[in-house]
Amino acid sequence: MKRDFLAIHDLTKKEIEYLLKRALDLKSGADPGKYPLTGKSIGLFFEKPSTRTRVSFEVGIFQLGGQSLYLNPREIQLGRGETIADTARVLSRYLTAVVLRTNSHNTIQEFASFATVPVINGLSDLHHPCQALADLMTIREKKGSLKGMHIAYIGDGNNVANSLIEASALMGINMVVACPEDYCPDKGILQRARSSSEGAITVVKDPAEAVAGADVIYTDVWVSMGQEKEAEKKISLLADYQVNSALLSRAGNDAVVLHCLPAHRGQEITDEVMDGPQSAVFDQAENRLHTEKALLEFLIAS
Ligand code: CP
Ligand code: NVA
Repeated sequence: MKRDFLAIHDLTKKEIEYLLKRALDLKSGADPGKYPLTGKSIGLFFEKPSTRTRVSFEVGIFQLGGQSLYLNPREIQLGRGETIADTARVLSRYLTAVVLRTNSHNTIQEFASFATVPVINGLSDLHHPCQALADLMTIREKKGSLKGMHIAYIGDGNNVANSLIEASALMGINMVVACPEDYCPDKGILQRARSSSEGAITVVKDPAEAVAGADVIYTDVWVSMGQEKEAEKKISLLADYQVNSALLSRAGNDAVVLHCLPAHRGQEITDEVMDGPQSAVFDQAENRLHTEKALLEFLIAS
């Protein structure tokens, strides 16, 4: 049976442990692996722009011996009214897997329900699970472990926060989200994560409270792709949630700063913090490549 990766909850803790170890082996060159995608093609169906996700998947697929096909929905017949279901059925006859980046999470779910090949969520409005895998890898690299770590997520409770909540719950990380009331993470995801969590998942209003004693400070843009109409309101309500030197000084000197990127420098994060000694944002971006290669190997072999 095909395996999809639409959200972190599609994997078990043991599977995530396996993927993190495999990604580290691929990164270190300890086991460069074979070419499991030789003769195979993977589709990248993206409704929104992307730098890291698109390039890391394309490069990863090439390094695993396969071919990637970038599919702009406006340039295929979907743009002229062919249904998601028929597109998924047809693409499954040619491709070995499909990575989708969509406006609505429902589109990915619908596509996956009709596709007969593995479907990977490369970001939706609700989840960004590939990002969370790279986040976990980076936290373990920088801090030595995952269990018992304290992550402070500051700002908009968006797709990135939702996936990090699921990942934290599964891996025993204590996560404190600081957000304004209107922009807290998805309630259903929070509830499910809390009920199954090995770590505590807390939501507070005050960023200073969230970062006290934090091992990791994480932020993301205030206005996600597709939210441009709400930009003014979001920027005003999130104004006190900037990750800057004053906030960073409330955590330990060894706290690591993460951001999924792209960053809006001067908005959710200052240049000083992003380019400072505690920032690991570019290692985090690199780790997208290693975790996605491990994920592709795993899903295609399953
Ligand atoms: N972090 C991330 O997914 O970046 P892109 O939007 O550039 O893919
Ligand atoms: N929350 C951001 C993440 C970008 C990688 C967005 O959805 O635009």
